Amino acid sequence: MVTSDSFKNLVLSFKSMLDDFLMIIISLVWSIILIFLSPILHLLNQFKNKVFPPPKTIVITGASSGIGKSLAIEYAAPGITLGITGRNKERLEEVKKQCVKKGATVETSTIDITEKEKIAHWLQDFDRRHQVDVIYANAAVSELSLGENFTYEEKAYELVNININGALNTVLPLLENFRKRNHGQIVLVSSLSAYISYVFPTYAASKSFITHYGLTLRQELKNYGVGCTVIAPGFVITPMSDTLKMESLPFSVSAERAAQVMIQGVQENRAFVGFSLPTLFSAYMMSLVPPNLRDAWNSISSLAFPYTDSIESTKSKDQVKYRTSFSSSIFYKTKDTAESSASVSSSSSKKFQ
Ligand SMILES: NC(=O)c1ccc[n+]([C@@H]2O[C@H](COP(=O)([O-])OP(=O)(O)OC[C@H]3O[C@@H](n4cnc5c(N)ncnc54)[C@H](OP(=O)(O)O)[C@@H]3O)[C@@H](O)[C@H]2O)c1
Repeated sequence: MVTSDSFKNLVLSFKSMLDDFLMIIISLVWSIILIFLSPILHLLNQFKNKVFPPPKTIVITGASSGIGKSLAIEYAAPGITLGITGRNKERLEEVKKQCVKKGATVETSTIDITEKEKIAHWLQDFDRRHQVDVIYANAAVSELSLGENFTYEEKAYELVNININGALNTVLPLLENFRKRNHGQIVLVSSLSAYISYVFPTYAASKSFITHYGLTLRQELKNYGVGCTVIAPGFVITPMSDTLKMESLPFSVSAERAAQVMIQGVQENRAFVGFSLPTLFSAYMMSLVPPNLRDAWNSISSLAFPYTDSIESTKSKDQVKYRTSFSSSIFYKTKDTAESSASVSSSSSKKFQ
């Protein structure tokens, strides 16, 4: 009996190995075909791609810190009108000050991105007065940047609400106006983590939504002369990535450099802008690993990139645990220490403040 069970298991494991092996072979053959097809597809893209004039009016959500702040400052110049949002009034006003100093006209809004009606009203009003050229759906949170005021379950729902509903609340109110004007560009800020089933499941899944929503929306909008670009950064040095508490962020770039790369990609109306290059290549390679081999692959990755586990970090409200898989040891941080190092955008919706 035992022998027949073991034999069955052996056959099943061989079959699953064969499936994985076939998936790898198919990726290989498909990659070779794509090598020959890609110059033709690239030429077609160049031929069909609408190039927009440099924008004069730009809306950026989540501009009170990190990438959004750098985008606003990078765009700021005489003749440019910026609509910037973020919940923290003080930090948003500071960004406004820097942009005005560079000659831009700036309007701010501290509306929470999850407040659908209010944000739609603000966007419509701003668009009526200034005619938006580009809108960045940038505001987002991660499991760690939400801070320790949430349980694991609450974090999942809050994150989906901000990262997914918040992005829709940003993009949808202006779609009809863009379509009518046959003009306008939508920029959705995703993440390369969308390609890596490794850590932070809700964040990675929310960014998967953003990536696939943006790439597909682009197809619908191009018939109306409206652009749509998905931005997928790797590590960028911001308050959000600070919450990872990693000693060094592999192949990271500054928020200023990220903003420059993003603006260039949007100017070219590219479908997808991923950076930095080594992170983009690693993410792409990870996405080619068959799902059933991911467990083993991730164990190898965790040797190179120790991470902060989102379950451990939300286990209790009084004591926040941080674990690095590298050393397999668990470090405890008291609530006070964790609070001081949590993201500046940590405290989220009002009910938890
Ligand atoms: N940093 C990275 O390594 C990295 C990597 C890949 C992708 N990204 C993506 O890049 C974008 C910017 O991230 P970041 O690193 O710059 O993060 P950040 O510094 O934490 O900034 C997040 C921004 O979003 C705003 N925000 C968060 N929740 C909000 C809400 N409910 N309503 C309105 N505004 C809200 C915050 O404003 P307030 O705090 O004022 O509310 C803040 O301005 C995000 O989409 C993120 O997922 C970042």
